[in-house]
Amino acid sequence: MSLRERIGLPLLRSMDPERAHGLAIQALRAGLSPVIATPSSPRLATTVAGLSLANPVGLAAGFDKNGTAVAPLLKSGFGFIEIGAVTPRPQPGNPRPRLFRLSADRAVINRFGFNNDGADAVAARLSARQSGDCHDGIVGINLGANKDSDDKAADFAHVLRRIGPHVEFATVNVSSPNTERLRDLQGKDALLGVLDAVMTARASLSRAIPIFLKVAPDLDAPQIDDIVAVARQSGLSGIFATNTTLARDGLQSPAREEAGGLSGAPLMAPSTRILAAFAARLDGEIPLIGIGGIASAADAITKIRAGASAVQLYSGLVYGGISLGARIAREMDSLLAADGIADLATIRGSDIARWTG
Ligand code: FNR
Repeated sequence: MSLRERIGLPLLRSMDPERAHGLAIQALRAGLSPVIATPSSPRLATTVAGLSLANPVGLAAGFDKNGTAVAPLLKSGFGFIEIGAVTPRPQPGNPRPRLFRLSADRAVINRFGFNNDGADAVAARLSARQSGDCHDGIVGINLGANKDSDDKAADFAHVLRRIGPHVEFATVNVSSPNTERLRDLQGKDALLGVLDAVMTARASLSRAIPIFLKVAPDLDAPQIDDIVAVARQSGLSGIFATNTTLARDGLQSPAREEAGGLSGAPLMAPSTRILAAFAARLDGEIPLIGIGGIASAADAITKIRAGASAVQLYSGLVYGGISLGARIAREMDSLLAADGIADLATIRGSDIARWTG
């Protein structure tokens, strides 16, 4: 951890969480965060749906919702970053407070509700980038739907048409718990409709970027079966598992009863179980990205062994600073080297049975 982070983090953690997050983004934009060369090695290199990643550790959606800090985030050592969620029209999100630290549990609860500047503003911000022109790094857009929209499928398609030309991938987010009825879109027929609209929008882009689906951790086996069937049928490029959870098992912190999605350490095991459940069914046919509770290189390797080709994290940064992604990637490289493992493919999926048994 840099000296600035060692001084800055305790200060940020003593503030209101949303204000602290705003300051962290401002510090990034002002160039106050360390520039970190993206860790890379043959052991860390991975390809996901045609995207060549120097390392498998990505920044998860929600950290830079409006794409205001893309350039500095691409210099923070992540193998890839995801901005958003972005909705067609700007919206304020839920009333504050809506972000809570659960320090004793190394966790976070949020109920932001897709507060964002809207697709036009974010597209304008990214317009200097052309998709596929990844000289600066790999950036994805998390597609959201407006709270008051009657046609959520059309919303996802709209944001893709608007922002798709400026990014390398897009993620259909039907798994946020903070927009009423959004997660109903994970059901078979609704999901087919959403993906149909999104794939049609992709066909209108000059370059066909990969389309991923981000799922909730609160799924049962029949729901997972349905999502796998739809993923195959619609030609999805991959599945991101998982978003935040509605579960509240075994928490200590006073804020544990707050409504919203829980992320961070308590999500590690449940989200890994869902990841492995998808991996067992897909058997390498469609790549998986593991998200939920990653705070160390060991956690990231656990996700790879449970079937992930790459990982993302967010809540760990609240406790470990923005350089955590790079530290995890470097440490992964050392752990793999120490065990004589040549690349991630060698261990990918080796523990699926442990998580699904
Ligand atoms: C999120 N997450 C999220 N996910 C998404 O697909 N779209 C979004 O807009 C957001 N917004 C968001 C805000 C905040 C404050 C948090 C903490 C999380 C979920 C996030 O991308 C990730 O899936 C989960 O947080 C689980 O990973 P971690 O945080 O345990 O590493």
